[in-house]
Order: sequence, then C-alpha cells, then structure tokens
Amino acid sequence: MTIIDGKATAAQIKQEIAAEVQQMIANGMKRPHLSAVLIGHDGGSETYVRNKILACEACGFTSSLHRFEDDVTEEELLDCIHQLNNDPDVDGFIVQLPLPHHINKERIIEAIDYRKDVDGFHPINVGRMAIGLPCFLSATPRGILELLQRYHIEMSGKKCVVLGRSNIVGKPMSQLMMQKEHGDTTVTVCHSHSQDIAEECRQADILIAAIGKPGYVTADMVKPGAVVIDVGTTRVPDPSRPSGYRLSGDVDFEHVAPLCSYISPVPGGVGPMTICMLMRNTLAAAKHEYY
Ligand code: GUN
Repeated sequence: MTIIDGKATAAQIKQEIAAEVQQMIANGMKRPHLSAVLIGHDGGSETYVRNKILACEACGFTSSLHRFEDDVTEEELLDCIHQLNNDPDVDGFIVQLPLPHHINKERIIEAIDYRKDVDGFHPINVGRMAIGLPCFLSATPRGILELLQRYHIEMSGKKCVVLGRSNIVGKPMSQLMMQKEHGDTTVTVCHSHSQDIAEECRQADILIAAIGKPGYVTADMVKPGAVVIDVGTTRVPDPSRPSGYRLSGDVDFEHVAPLCSYISPVPGGVGPMTICMLMRNTLAAAKHEYY
C-alpha cells in the first residue's frame, strides 16, 4: 500500500511554478496576480484564503484580498467583480464559497470574466471542460488527476466510482475521469439517492469519495487493491487540538488503507493539491494560455 503524499507533490509543483515565474520575470513579464474575494468570517473560508495567499507568496505571485462583511449586498459584490474584471494587473480571481444565503451564487459566478475565472466555476469554463476544450479546470478535480498521473496510476479502461455530485468536485471529477484525454475510465456517480452504494463501491478500481461524511467509506466497501482518493475535509470537534477541531476525511483510513494499492490521506492528500492547482490556473491566466 502506498500513501499518496499530496503535501510533497504540491510542494514540488509550487517549486516548478516558482521557477517558471522567475523565468517570466527575467523575460520582462509581470508577476502573475491572484485576487481573492472573501465574505464574512467563516473559519474554513478564512483558512482556505489565507493558504491561497501563502501559496501565492511561495510561487512568486502577487496577491490581493477584498473583504466584505456578511451583510454585503449583491450590488456591492458585483461592483467589486467588475473592478477585478477590468483591472489589467489582476490575472485571475476567486470568490470564496460558500456565500451568505441572500446572495445569488449563480449571478456572482456568471459576473466573473471567464478569462479570469481561475476556479473554473463559470458556465463557459464548465461547458468547455465538458466537451474537452482548453479551459480553467476546477482545482480539486485537476489536483486529483495530477496525483493519479504523478503516481503513474493506470486509469484507462478501469472502473471508477465517484461518491458525490457537487458542482465543485463530483460532477467535474466524473466528467474528467470519463474523458479519453484524462481518466479514460468507466465512471459511476453515486449520490444521496443511489441504491446500494456499498455494492457500487466494491466494483471500483478507483474510488473517489467527495460527500463530506466523515468515515463514510468503510473497509467492506473497498475492493482489495483499489485506489482510494479521499476528498472529504469535514471539521470534527477534537478537544485535544489547540484549534479544538481536526479535519476528517470521508474514508475510514485506519481500516481501509491496508486494503488499498494507493490511498490519499486527510489531511495531506487532495487538500494541498487543490490550492496548488489554483496557482497553476493563475499562471495559465497570466500567460493567456487558454484565452
Ligand atoms: N469553497 C470550497 N472550495 C472552494 C474552491 O475551490 N473555490 C472557492 N472559490 N470556494 C471554495
């Protein structure tokens, strides 16, 4: 059994990006600039955005942060997005999710210029991804593909089960795992109304768990020799930690790991790769690689 080390892989990719940025600067180009829009004070969102800014520093990017309180109006947010769309120094930006309930998420995402949508959430990027055109790929699925590729995990023709159908992970992951140029696997997507999820999972050569239920995937659901990718990042209370919580994956790691050929842990698996792929997308935006 091999533990997939997302932290080390991400560190290596960030070094590769930093080297490319140095070369760009030497060639007289400007530093890539990622901007983040953060609304409210959700602990998870604060941590993600802080880590994104730190990753920018590691890669040699410029970063900027636009903060709003929970009672921000949709118009104020749209104003900020229009400014970022029109700022020639900003190569890409993200609006950290989730948004307060009074804000129409779709309206916000659609207001982002798709050429700066480094999260890959805009319908133009989602559509281009679905038909295999160059675009910003959503960072978590892209990070998972990168891990599978860097660990030389054979995918073509294998059976892949994706647990979860979210717009951010499950849907794009299943599309990419199906596509010839990426996973080239036979994909089954399971969700809250699927019947006999355990039996579906037992068929999987590659099992990708993204449902946000701590420890949901148990040993009896995993085929011996399977590759298991855990996308879960649920905060569970843990009084023994200074923060008062720990991150829990969707997989019962202790009992599932011995069965697997490869498994990604939580933390230190998919999480670090996600931010790293956002950096890749920002670099691509700065180089106008897609648009
Ligand atoms: N919230 C959880 N994951 C993400 C992400 O990848 N991007 C943004 N913008 N918000 C998130």
